[in-house]
Amino acid sequence: MSNPDTSSGTLPSHEIIVIPPSGHQDRLLLLDQCIHVRIDVFVHEQQFSLDVEVDEHDPIATHFLLRLVPSLTPIGTIRAYRAEGEKYYKLSRLAVLKPYRKYHFGRDLVLALHRWVNEDAIRSGLQVARVVCHSQLPVKGFYAKYGYQPEGDEFDEDGAPHQKMVAYPS
Ligand SMILES: CC(C)(COP(=O)(O)OP(=O)(O)OC[C@H]1O[C@@H](n2cnc3c(N)ncnc32)[C@H](O)[C@@H]1OP(=O)(O)O)[C@@H](O)C(=O)NCCC(=O)NCCS
Repeated sequence: MSNPDTSSGTLPSHEIIVIPPSGHQDRLLLLDQCIHVRIDVFVHEQQFSLDVEVDEHDPIATHFLLRLVPSLTPIGTIRAYRAEGEKYYKLSRLAVLKPYRKYHFGRDLVLALHRWVNEDAIRSGLQVARVVCHSQLPVKGFYAKYGYQPEGDEFDEDGAPHQKMVAYPS
């Protein structure tokens, strides 16, 4: 992917869309675009294994795609899911392509996910919307800005140290 000129610091025009559910004609293409952003960031940039990048949660997760307008170039993604029988949501695979960082796109993705979680919690009859993420250590401060607090000890996940963090978005 070619690097855009972001040197002016002007916020690029963008939108966040929720990937439609299984069975929708656009799902596969849009989910593929989310996964390409993740591969760029987690596999090529951060050296995580491709084998663990796409997992069993992808088919059931709700995926968000941040893309430029009007080009519709994908530049960021995040996903959420509630595991079978669980009362909390898991936030994962938050990624913004390197040339587009520091525009608050990461924040916008987290806040879009929080809005969806709150709506889904109401639909599902949950009393509380609880969101859990496994933060890489260098981004704990990022998640803390959006209400995430550490729980328990650091642990290894996919070969890198992580911290469980929990938020109750309102
Ligand atoms: C983490 C990531 C998504 C943040 O995206 P971003 O668009 O650059 O971040 P934002 O511009 O939305 O930052 C929002 C705020 O968090 C701060 N912030 C960003 N990264 C931070 C970090 N690593 N630690 C602490 N604060 C951070 C910003 O300074 C900003 O603060 P402000 O509102 O006071 O100005 C991005 O750096 C990324 O994709 N990293 C690689 C993938 C990754 O590590 N994902 C997380 C896996 S757990």
